[in-house]
Amino acid sequence: MYKKLRLIQSGTFGTVYKAWSTEHNCYVALKITPKYKTSEASIQNEYDVMKVLSSHNSHPNICSMLDFYTDDSYYVMVLEYCECGDLYDFLDIAKSQGTPSSSSLIQIDMQKIIKQLYSAISFAHSLGIAHRDIKPENVLLTINGDVKLADWGHAIQSTKSNDFQIGTDNYRAPETFSSCFDNSCFRRRLDQLQAPLYNTYKADYWSLGATIFYLMFGDCLFRVSKSKKSQHLRNLKEFEKNPFAFIYEKYVVPRLPCGYNDEEDLHMSLQQTRQYFWQDLPDIYDVFHLCKIMVDTLLIVSNAEERSMEAFINQVDFAWNKDTSIDSSFNYQSKINLFWEQWSISAESTPANFQLKNFEKPCLVQESK
Ligand SMILES: Nc1ncnc2c1ncn2[C@@H]1O[C@H](COP(=O)(O)OP(=O)(O)OP(=O)(O)O)[C@@H](O)[C@H]1O
Ligand SMILES: [Mg+2]
Repeated sequence: MYKKLRLIQSGTFGTVYKAWSTEHNCYVALKITPKYKTSEASIQNEYDVMKVLSSHNSHPNICSMLDFYTDDSYYVMVLEYCECGDLYDFLDIAKSQGTPSSSSLIQIDMQKIIKQLYSAISFAHSLGIAHRDIKPENVLLTINGDVKLADWGHAIQSTKSNDFQIGTDNYRAPETFSSCFDNSCFRRRLDQLQAPLYNTYKADYWSLGATIFYLMFGDCLFRVSKSKKSQHLRNLKEFEKNPFAFIYEKYVVPRLPCGYNDEEDLHMSLQQTRQYFWQDLPDIYDVFHLCKIMVDTLLIVSNAEERSMEAFINQVDFAWNKDTSIDSSFNYQSKINLFWEQWSISAESTPANFQLKNFEKPCLVQESK
């Protein structure tokens, strides 16, 4: 028996409640979907996937299904309850609390979240399951700050697919957009027949990168407006030309404090920014480093086959490399110079609205032009 306690979330397809389970003697989440809002095939798919994932070898970072019920009107999925809700809402609270002058009360252990997400995705892939909708809203958090990857409603038990409408636009891999840009239904169907299959695991890798990107910047790498899908393409082309300059200009610079008098002043300002955005990353250099690793391993546009979650995770600890951040002279300029070199940002892609006083592009890069 379940005692409904409160509404957690009401979405397009159904409603999620917190409830008490007398049978399991614990809180659970009831995901209730009215039958008229979904197809039997779609629920059957989610159920089958959850069954595989929740079997006796269930994974600590995947939200398990404890039970399943149906009657004439509803499907009810009984899920492990995650006290801290989803990562999107969690970050929203952190954002509303943290300001440049006061730190957020919510502390985010980015390194742990990344590792646990990687572990959950690897586990699913090892069972032949691709998630296909990895995004902050589907990453749940327990009271201990552990990750539970949820919402397997779009999952597929196959490494290949030519479904182009699956997932959430802002987090979807570029190759999964292939047939979305033409409004003609006929054309889309034709495309679907002719389109090459894409690798569903590699598409998940991109979504993981886009989710971590959101975690770092509180914003999406690209935003796809429903009316203007070409917006995504335009951003994508710009991104592909120089991913580092793109991230730097659009996401890093606006988060850097504007105006500082000396190195120590800059250091203090960056520390304050970190209290909200890059909490557990030791300093700005490590933020750049994590971006670089993501771009090199997960956010590869032109050849999805080159994406590697293993390469990503093998390098990820470097972003928390304490040695690079302990610098007795607080020499940020030299660290940032190093970043310019590493990312080969050319004079042309220098952000036009560069806001930091006394902050100049290193001579080295200018000379090598
Ligand atoms: N087990 C759970 N514990 C706590 N909160 C949950 C749980 N499951 C889902 N939620 C909350 O409900 C929201 C919707 O759940 P879920 O993503 O599974 O449903 P959905 O109908 O597929 O939603 P959408 O179509 O919007 O993705 C989640 O983003 C999360 O905030
Ligand atoms: Mg969801």
